[in-house]
Amino acid sequence: MSRPTPTRRPHTGAGPVLLHAPTDPGWLPLALARFDEVLVDHAHCEKKAAANALSLIQSYPDLPGLPAQMARLAREESAHLAKVLELMEARGLTLGRDTGDPYAQALQACVRTGAAERRVDRLLVAAVIEARSCERLSLLAEGLEEPALKRFYGELAQSEDGHQALFFRLAVAAAGGEEAAVAGRLQVLLAREAEVVREVGLRAAIH
Ligand SMILES: [Fe+2]
Ligand SMILES: [Fe+2]
Repeated sequence: MSRPTPTRRPHTGAGPVLLHAPTDPGWLPLALARFDEVLVDHAHCEKKAAANALSLIQSYPDLPGLPAQMARLAREESAHLAKVLELMEARGLTLGRDTGDPYAQALQACVRTGAAERRVDRLLVAAVIEARSCERLSLLAEGLEEPALKRFYGELAQSEDGHQALFFRLAVAAAGGEEAAVAGRLQVLLAREAEVVREVGLRAAIH
């Protein structure tokens, strides 16, 4: 049975974080064919998103709004993780060790070292990763056939879309409201992100 061809354009993130390049059309068929592997990788992504939210509270307790927003985010990402683990359990899959995410690592390498720059960059890198995750999860929502899974991935994509906007707002706040400067830095990171996606190539993983 052939899969229905998606009619909507792939989601490339709404809000302030617009990806420079859409995902290669070869990614979705690979992700669907090796969905179990994608699911395990996805669980690790949600775990890291929750851990990163807590780590940002640890690093930047003084940025107004950040601790409360990151506490809520950690809770939301943990709920995503719990749901993905449930899906894995139903399929007899175990989490296993995290083998690392070359995509996220390459983006984290872009974070500048000065304290003020580092704070803005950590928030912007998080925004960029959320935007790409949102695009990939919407592609899965379009490609998966099982209605419950389709719905789940559609809901997650929407949730990650809200997160990229949240991280962008926090980055602007971290830069003292200098939105133009933050938007300029975001473009540099998005250009690098498009290169990283190409360098990493197609993997049976979210990124
Ligand atoms: Fe999530
Ligand atoms: Fe997220």
